[in-house]
Amino acid sequence: MTGENLTTLSSRFYTDPAVFESDKEHVFYRTWQYVGHVSALPEVGSFLTVRIADESLIIVRDESETVRAFYNVCRHRAHRLVDGEGCKSRFVCPYHAWSYALDGKLSQAPKTEEVPGFDKTRIALREVRLELFAGLMFVNLDDDAQSMADVFVGLEQELLAAKPALSSMKLIFKDQITHQSNWKVSVENFSECYHCPVAHRYVTSNLYSADRYRVTIEDYVVRHFSERLGDRETHGDLYVWFLWPNLAIELYPLHRCISIRHFAPITPRTTVYTYLWFVDPDLPDDAVAEVAQLGETYRGTNGAEDEAIVAAVQEGLESRSYDVGQLVIPPQLTAQSEHAVAHFQRLYAQALGVGDSST
Ligand code: FES
Ligand SMILES: [Fe+2]
Repeated sequence: MTGENLTTLSSRFYTDPAVFESDKEHVFYRTWQYVGHVSALPEVGSFLTVRIADESLIIVRDESETVRAFYNVCRHRAHRLVDGEGCKSRFVCPYHAWSYALDGKLSQAPKTEEVPGFDKTRIALREVRLELFAGLMFVNLDDDAQSMADVFVGLEQELLAAKPALSSMKLIFKDQITHQSNWKVSVENFSECYHCPVAHRYVTSNLYSADRYRVTIEDYVVRHFSERLGDRETHGDLYVWFLWPNLAIELYPLHRCISIRHFAPITPRTTVYTYLWFVDPDLPDDAVAEVAQLGETYRGTNGAEDEAIVAAVQEGLESRSYDVGQLVIPPQLTAQSEHAVAHFQRLYAQALGVGDSST
């Protein structure tokens, strides 16, 4: 693929509502989707609700401390069971008060004792596959999907070798930016650093080198690396693992903290970009404050810069003047290369079952 002339996806893939529906079906309802770090569910009954495209899910720690996922849909007449997050001993539906235990089984349903043949032991919330992966929780709505260990071969060990404390990290900052762009525009923008020296002066002057940036592709994982500018001993370098299709785990060169980046598709032209910053539990307070400060600074620098870029790209994709462009992939795969964009588009075409998505 190196040095090839490759074109981008045709613009309709970023604008057509029918393509967006197909993306949900072929990508988001069949791949492993990040739903949080285990620290979000500290005790029995801790739960959170998440959306995977149009589907709402409950993630909960049950009585046996197992983390489980269920569709957030009451089995009676389909009311949403719960909102937000918190801690509960059972879930009571706000419509007719059917209640469910933490393992999803129906425990009470008012007046049903009087209904002949009503067997509450046969009713339970519909469960969704959930796997823990280096302290991160992932769900997959496809019952036949390969396990995470089979999709991301060797990756859990690699992540834990790079950051042994991954599952005990502490969340210290979280923010979201709504991108006015299709989710693929946002992910493709994340996948290359060709634009970094042009658009990201703050991070490439203070944190890591734009020249030493390298991106390597391998099946469902894309790795990014760059050297920390300045004190590499204290802060380490930048390592990024991008997991198909919409999650990045970054070992970030500021006190070796972890930054998680997630792209959630909302509409064909809206994507919510969430970024979370985690630190080692024993990191000194002044260092924690520095990482939290970067979280704040990020919004006004890199975050705002990418937000403006993706909105301007989406506008161009809507133009009648544009259909396909050309990717820049020099043979040496330097920092200024878009090979990971090509790789993303290849995985996308494969997911949709189309050979050539430039048409
Ligand atoms: S829909 Fe939930 S109890 Fe009726
Ligand atoms: Fe960027």
